Amino acid sequence: MRLTKVVFTLARHIEQYAKYSPSSLSVKQFMDFGQNACEKDSFEFLRQELPVRLANIMKEINLLPADLLRMPSVVTVHKWYVDSFKDVLEFTDKDSGDSKVLQSFAVALDKIRNRHSDVVPTMAQGVLELSESVFVDNDTDDKIQYFLDRLYMSRIGIRMLINQHALLFGETLNQNKRHIGCIDPYCDVVDVVKDAYENARFLCERYYLASPDLKVAAINKKENGIPIQIVYVPSHLYHILFELFKNALRAVMEHHGTAAYSYPPVEVLVVKGDEDVTIKIMDRGGGMPRSTVPLLFKYTYSTAPRPSVGDATGTPLAGYGYGLPLSRLYARYLLGDLTITSCEGYGADAVIYLKALSSEANELLPVFNVSSCRHYTTPTFERDWFTTGDIKRLRANRNGSGK
Ligand SMILES: Nc1ncnc2c1ncn2[C@@H]1O[C@H](COP(=O)(O)OP(=O)(O)OP(=O)(O)O)[C@@H](O)[C@H]1O
Ligand SMILES: [Mg+2]
Repeated sequence: MRLTKVVFTLARHIEQYAKYSPSSLSVKQFMDFGQNACEKDSFEFLRQELPVRLANIMKEINLLPADLLRMPSVVTVHKWYVDSFKDVLEFTDKDSGDSKVLQSFAVALDKIRNRHSDVVPTMAQGVLELSESVFVDNDTDDKIQYFLDRLYMSRIGIRMLINQHALLFGETLNQNKRHIGCIDPYCDVVDVVKDAYENARFLCERYYLASPDLKVAAINKKENGIPIQIVYVPSHLYHILFELFKNALRAVMEHHGTAAYSYPPVEVLVVKGDEDVTIKIMDRGGGMPRSTVPLLFKYTYSTAPRPSVGDATGTPLAGYGYGLPLSRLYARYLLGDLTITSCEGYGADAVIYLKALSSEANELLPVFNVSSCRHYTTPTFERDWFTTGDIKRLRANRNGSGK
């Protein structure tokens, strides 16, 4: 087939699959599927659903600002998506009853998962390349932040599907018998809190040679006296908690100084209600001014020095500015949330909300449609409230002084 024809056919396929909205599954559906479905069912679902999810986000990649699309790292990420889309499409007409087909599908999924393992840092690199080569105005930055949230959320969902298939039917069966794929039906929240704290504390000790202690309290309003358990993906919860503990520990150490005699503990409250499981992490690390709170969930916002590439000291405690925005995505993926409130001069509270019921914990997925398209094609950064500072700036711009 000639190259132009191949490109045209691919574009047509992307167009066709992007017309479908992704099927959002609940944790309960993941569980039921994991307990009752066979590999053939999973194959038939994934060969339709994966191209839909890939095509939906690929349509948005095409709408990115042209300057960003030209950046080498973004070209690389784009190519990964094209390759993976083609890989899955190979199975469109294959016989789902043939065990060889199922085997090669598992191999293809493994390849896709590995191919996409560095999407987050590579895309981050692309954004950095852009800011180093051209001036990025507020409107463009807003569009990029919007896109990154959607790209990474789509990636979380795609990885969830692939992991479930691999862990349920592949060679890497989950060793933990209790788990259904990567879901723990009895995920003990306090255990994950302690685990994440210990690992963050390890990093903190390495940097500051000291660390604040942890104090945990749990209130189970739902089942009195029983440890708080939810049906959840423990690796997601761990990811969120680890990021929040790294931030809290760093804040406490920076605020009190390494010469301090003792440090106030980081306190955690875990509560299970009818609808939500709430995890509140309270630190006394001085918080942040209210003016910086809106920046916290912006990708690349960080007050720590950027870690150098190939740093021999291993995982850094902070510095990429990805911890909070990514953690909020993990929380929102299953209709939870993450908020930060600050009391400047005292400390910050990070609150994680998770759905208590697995039937309500539905995937939140980006869908390509007129509304999402509009975000890329119309200015998003138009002020509809004004304050004296804005008026002064407007007058200055009109006078051409720019001050
Ligand atoms: N508990 C906290 N107390 C005070 N400041 C905080 C707290 N949590 C976050 N911040 C501020 O928000 C910034 C962004 O946090 P985020 O976790 O997103 O990135 P980071 O910690 O700088 O880098 P990394 O991506 O490695 O986590 C931090 O650099 C810090 O200035
Ligand atoms: Mg962080």
